[in-house]
Amino acid sequence: MANVVVVGAQWGDEGKGKIVDWLSERADIVARFQGGHNAGHTLVVDGTVYKLHALPSGVVRGGKLSVIGNGVVLDPWHLLSEIATLRDQGVEITPDTLMIAENTPLILPFHGALDRAREAASQAGTKIGTTGRGIGPAYEDKVGRRAVRVGDLADRDVLAARIDRALVHHDALQRGLGMGPVDRDALIADLLAIATDVLPFAGPVWKRMDDARRAGRRILFEGAQGALLDIDFGTYPFVTSSNVIAGQAATGVGLGPGAIDFVLGIVKAYTTRVGEGPFPTELLDEDGQRLGERGHEFGTTTGRKRRCGWFDAALVRQTVATSGMTGIALTKLDVLDGFARLKLCVGYDLDGTRLDHLPTAAEAQARCVPVYEEMEGWSDSTEGARSWNDLPGAAVKYVRRVEELVRCPVALLSTSPEREDTILVTDPFED
Ligand code: GDP
Ligand code: IMO
Ligand code: MG
Repeated sequence: MANVVVVGAQWGDEGKGKIVDWLSERADIVARFQGGHNAGHTLVVDGTVYKLHALPSGVVRGGKLSVIGNGVVLDPWHLLSEIATLRDQGVEITPDTLMIAENTPLILPFHGALDRAREAASQAGTKIGTTGRGIGPAYEDKVGRRAVRVGDLADRDVLAARIDRALVHHDALQRGLGMGPVDRDALIADLLAIATDVLPFAGPVWKRMDDARRAGRRILFEGAQGALLDIDFGTYPFVTSSNVIAGQAATGVGLGPGAIDFVLGIVKAYTTRVGEGPFPTELLDEDGQRLGERGHEFGTTTGRKRRCGWFDAALVRQTVATSGMTGIALTKLDVLDGFARLKLCVGYDLDGTRLDHLPTAAEAQARCVPVYEEMEGWSDSTEGARSWNDLPGAAVKYVRRVEELVRCPVALLSTSPEREDTILVTDPFED
């Protein structure tokens, strides 16, 4: 019996949703522990495509409990519309299958407005390229001790007091940005109007998780974003506003660190990034374009074109360390089919000095020139491969070299968007 944390090992969009969906067959509970609807996770099950943002990818499987933990920031209007969309696709979501921590901070409309206004006012070079969904401002309010939390929706007077506390800050800010004060009464009325739809899902998640653990239930923690977007260990300030790394899984639902047995890092066989910020192996040539086209690299949440580049082993070695990864799931190997030669970044040259990791300051990161190792590509298809024997020799060599360079073994290999096109090497739940 083991509990498994799934985290992105790069800048997000590594294929976490597909792997979480695949692993959730083996789990009793699937829990989100950070981030919000900035995430976009795509699952393909027998040709049907599901796009999830706030809900854990386990919801599409029946008979599991999905959990949204306190580490998440939640837009309640978005939540209800995502539930409605999935219900239209035939997915059953009830208070028996979904539980939301009552201490989860809410994303309110002025958070999104502030996020977008700041981005619009930023000069070139300082824009972060956020998803515009209010994630940063909502987390600021959480640590600023002025958040409205899910449980506050239960009482009109409590809710009004929380809103008033938040607006002392936000009205001043909005005025400064020329946006005028928030319509307090309308906001309270709007929240009360949806409270009856949201509250049946709310409860003490920490308690439910504790009970589950004591009863030997298997918990799958679903990370959003990627370790390079982590607020502490990512490419700051071009990051998201939460801790993304595996250590957050326990805090984000209210369990102790001993609850985590296996950390599975999801690693794309090349590198992508959406939004601004340093990206040493970015390719602005035909190879980059080819990766984007073959990999369909468009953001699930914003539709933006993802920047593409060669595999950066130095970066993944770093995230293997900061998340304490036990194994990796290597995804999108099929996208590399047909490249005559492949490059892997093994370190950087910074102003004439060789580095084996990315320096901390964004300015230094931007000056890092990747040091590459080259490997032969393969012309045969790996798409849809379901066994190690289906892979060309050069593809196996590439996978082995990735394992060596990042210092972590491959536990799973993914060869197409479809759930079943997955090769299991080590079962994280049985390890
Ligand atoms: P996430 O944010 O980490 O869950 O990843 P996204 O869903 O945003 O992006 C990953 C994309 O790659 C999705 O469209 C998946 O359907 C797709 N995908 C996942 N694994 C594979 C794979 O092994 N091969 C290919 N070709 N596509 C994959
Ligand atoms: P999933 O879970 C890729 C990026 C944004 C921006 C930065 C900050 O699908 O992997 P934010 O709105 O969070 O304040 O934006 O983080 N970003 C993601 N990039 N995948 C994601 O999620 C992301 N979530 C946020 O593009 O650069
Ligand atoms: Mg995504």
